[in-house]
Amino acid sequence: ASTLRDGAAAAGRYFGTAVAAGPLSNESQYITVLDREFNSVTAENAMKWDATEPSAGSFSYGSADALVTHAQAHGQQVRGHTLVWHNQTPSWVQNLAAADLRTAMQNHIANVVGHFKGKIYAWDVVNEIFDDNGGFRSSFWSQKLGQTFVADAFTAARAADPAAKLYINDYNVEGVNSKSTAMYNLVRTLKSQGVPIDGVGLQAHLIVGQVPSDLQQNIQRFADLGVDVALTELDIRMQTPSDSTKLANQRTDYNRVTTACLAVTRCVGITVWGFTDKYSWVPDVFSGQGAALPYNENYQAKPAYTGMLDALNGG
Ligand code: G3I
Repeated sequence: ASTLRDGAAAAGRYFGTAVAAGPLSNESQYITVLDREFNSVTAENAMKWDATEPSAGSFSYGSADALVTHAQAHGQQVRGHTLVWHNQTPSWVQNLAAADLRTAMQNHIANVVGHFKGKIYAWDVVNEIFDDNGGFRSSFWSQKLGQTFVADAFTAARAADPAAKLYINDYNVEGVNSKSTAMYNLVRTLKSQGVPIDGVGLQAHLIVGQVPSDLQQNIQRFADLGVDVALTELDIRMQTPSDSTKLANQRTDYNRVTTACLAVTRCVGITVWGFTDKYSWVPDVFSGQGAALPYNENYQAKPAYTGMLDALNGG
């Protein structure tokens, strides 16, 4: 295959990217690469709570609808991101008392999932609910509702769109560690309780030279629980500026990650968190780091791109 989407399709998977609403609306180079290379998309921000329900009961879907319409016209499935998170959630939600918070969550899920019913391949129902030590994250959700909001969120999502795959999603869970084991244990428990959970998202915000050696083993153990696994937000950052050595190492890392997913039957697809270094969250958050994506700022494919395509083509 000569594109990521064709290579993934030939392997029975998808290859996706996060999409930013701005360039989707007005940048032809961005759109050209998006539609040539990817058969799955995730809204980078447009489906989050602050975008979809900025004030109570008032829903706005402009940017999200634009993405879904674009995706449908270009043979791209859509991952919905995300319903319940501690970030990008308006203060009106965070300030609710427990009972109202639970109702607001259920109402939000019913509305958002219902709005897109039949158009979303998978939803990230809950996002980043663990801390890095393997504890449950302390957030306004857990402080007011304990852990019960998790099962309630999945139940509400299933009711609103029975066909969508429902995922739990987190970062720093790519290797076997305390956090991924906490996630593993929760998924097992939820399944044993009959909570409708279908998949585990490993975000995979990684660092060049630090891809966990047990990535494939970790994907496999989740798959063995009877759920799908996806790499949902892949990027592999480095200290900037880049040089040929770092870019070669990044190629190796992207190749390794792709190969690890392909080695596990239930690893259904890979999504990169943006495709061009022109638009990446990394430099805004990690000072001095970046160049994390498979295309440079001028939309030239980097060695990282070739590393993924080679893996999809079997090498
Ligand atoms: O929309 C406002 C705009 O009105 C304002 O002028 C501008 C000034 O800073 O900010 C704009 O909002 C920004 C928003 O992205 C949209 O561009 C926020 O400041 C900025 O914080 C926000 O960052 C997003 C971040 O999530 C917020 O948590 C990133 O784009 C997005 O890539 C990132 O994605 C997350 C995943 O959802 C979950 N996993 C981690 C991943 C990376 O942090």
